[in-house]
Amino acid sequence: MNKRLNLLQPYPFEKLRGLLASANPQATGLPLIDLSIGEPKHDAPLLAKQAITESLAGLSGYPPTKGSDGLRQAIAKWLEKRYGLPFIDPQTQVLPALGSREALFAFAQVVIDDSRGGWVVCPNPFYQIYEGAALLAGARPYYVNSQADKNFLSDWRSVPAEIWQETQLMFVCSPGNPAGSVMGLEDWRYLFELADRHDFVIASDECYSEIYLDEDNPPMGGLQAAHALGRTSFDKLVSFSSLSKRSNLPGLRSGFVAGNADLIKQFLLYRTYHGSAMSPLVAATSMAVWQDEVHVKANRQAYRDKFEAVLPILAPVLDVKRPDASFYLWAATASDDAKFTHDLLDQQAVKVLPGSYVSREASGINPGTNRIRIALVAPIEQCVEGAKRIAAFVRNQRLTG
Ligand SMILES: Cc1ncc(COP(=O)(O)O)c(C=O)c1O
Repeated sequence: MNKRLNLLQPYPFEKLRGLLASANPQATGLPLIDLSIGEPKHDAPLLAKQAITESLAGLSGYPPTKGSDGLRQAIAKWLEKRYGLPFIDPQTQVLPALGSREALFAFAQVVIDDSRGGWVVCPNPFYQIYEGAALLAGARPYYVNSQADKNFLSDWRSVPAEIWQETQLMFVCSPGNPAGSVMGLEDWRYLFELADRHDFVIASDECYSEIYLDEDNPPMGGLQAAHALGRTSFDKLVSFSSLSKRSNLPGLRSGFVAGNADLIKQFLLYRTYHGSAMSPLVAATSMAVWQDEVHVKANRQAYRDKFEAVLPILAPVLDVKRPDASFYLWAATASDDAKFTHDLLDQQAVKVLPGSYVSREASGINPGTNRIRIALVAPIEQCVEGAKRIAAFVRNQRLTG
C-alpha cells in the first residue's frame, strides 16, 4: 500500500461524528438544526434542472477530458466579465473540473516533484484537501495562521525565507473558509514576487467568490490581481472555481480551473490518465448556469438576509462579525470549542463545527482553538432559531459556569 496514506488525518466531519456520538439531542425534544456542513441548501436553479433533462442524449458518448467547447467558452466569457479581464483563451487557459475539490487535489499531484520534497504553503484554518493533497504528493504542508488581528487573512509575511525557498506550491483561499476574508492586491503582489523568486506555483481556491455581502464590491480574484499587476499570461497561477456554492449545485460536481496555459496543459495531460472527464449532461448544464447571473444575485441576497437576521442575535453573546464573503460565521467561544460543540448539540440540538477541527497548531498557536464555524446554509427560519438557541446556550453557560 501507499505508505503516504498513513499520513492522512481523519476528515473534520468524521471527527465531529465521533465527538457527537455521546450527545443526546433527542432528549431536548427540539428539532435538530444542522449548521455544521458548508453544503448549500437553497434550491438548485430551475434552468439547471431544465438543462440537465434536455441533455440526456449526452449519455451515449464518452466525453473529452478537455470538456465541451461550449462550456470552456462560457467559462472564459464569465471570467472576462466577472473580473474585467481581456481575452481568456478557452482552448488553452480553461479546463472544466468535477467540482473544485478534486481539481485542487489533483493539481498538487501535477505540480509537486516528490524527489524534491519541500513545502506546500497553505492557510490555517484551511480546507483539509490542501493538507491531504500535499502529503499524498510527497511534500509537507506549512500552515500559515489566519487570526483576528489581521482580519483572518493568512499572515504570509510571517513565513521564513527558508520555507519559501523550498516551496513548490501554495494554496490561497480567498474568500476564505471559515472566516470569509478577502485578500487584497498588496498581498497578491507579495505572493507573486515570492513565486517568481522561489519558483513555486499558486493555486487560488475561489469557490466562495460569488457569495459576497456587498453587492457593489465583489471579491478580487487571483487572475484579476495578476492582470492588474501586468502578469498577463498568469505566470505561476491557476484559480479554481465552482458552481457548488455560486449556484447551489453541490451535487452537480462542476467547477473549473483557469490560468497559466503551460500549467493547464500539464494538468490536462494528468487528467487524461486520471480519467476525470465531465459528463456531457453536466457540461451542458454548467454552460447554461455560468451564463446566468440572476439566480446568483438572488442567492447572495438570501445569504445577506440570513446574516442580517442572525448577527443581532449572536453578537451580544459571542465575539462574531459579518464576513466579507462566504456563508460562514467564525465565532469565538469562551470555552473549549469541541466541548462547546458537544454541549450545544446535547442541550439545544444545534450542530456546528469546532474550529480546531479545521486547523492545526503552527508556530505555537492553533487559530481554530475556542472558535466554532456556523454555516448559514439552512433555511432562514432555522438559522434564526439556531442562533436563538446558541444565544440561550451561551447565556446558560455563563450562569452555570
Ligand atoms: C474552501 C473550499 N474549497 C473547495 C471546496 C470544494 O467545493 P466543490 O468541490 O463542491 O467545488 C470547498 C467545499 O466546501 C471549500 O470549502
